[in-house]
Amino acid sequence: MEVKKISISYEEYEDGEPLASSDLKLIDEATTALKGSYAPYSDFHVGAALLMENGDIIRGSNQENAAYPSGLCAERVALFHANSERPGEIIVSLAITGKADHFKSNEPITPCGACRQVIAETEKRQNSKIRIIMKGEMGNTRIVDGIANLLPMMFQGEQLKKQLK
Ligand code: THU
Repeated sequence: MEVKKISISYEEYEDGEPLASSDLKLIDEATTALKGSYAPYSDFHVGAALLMENGDIIRGSNQENAAYPSGLCAERVALFHANSERPGEIIVSLAITGKADHFKSNEPITPCGACRQVIAETEKRQNSKIRIIMKGEMGNTRIVDGIANLLPMMFQGEQLKKQLK
């Protein structure tokens, strides 16, 4: 038996510490996406914004449902929209932010497990990493270069003996 280790890395920026202007702009786009959030059950609004390789922005926000599991997170709304409208286009970065109705969200909003899996599939399909920028309503910003930093030992299509075309 051998104990093996996987290490992940991330950048943590204190509130107010300067960020790259492209990251700041994408966080602003994710904040704009909050306007479309439909979250009457959790009262927790999430916005996501994708920076496409050609500079375009695609936004998404969480969409809830009275039958709770029928809703979808902001990240998957944006990612599925991007691939259905613009298949083959590369996603460079994804920014996520959130705002709660009844408290101040001051921790970075990190994607849920299912969204991580969809980000992993997207990276695999486009054969390049996505920069993921996470921020709450206030507080620190956290950035990872690629989903492997959020989803080590991820499940991928090869395990189904399937290569993507
Ligand atoms: N949510 C997202 O949209 N993205 C995340 O990264 C975390 C959670 C949504 C799902 C649900 O509408 C609400 O936030 C509370 O979980």
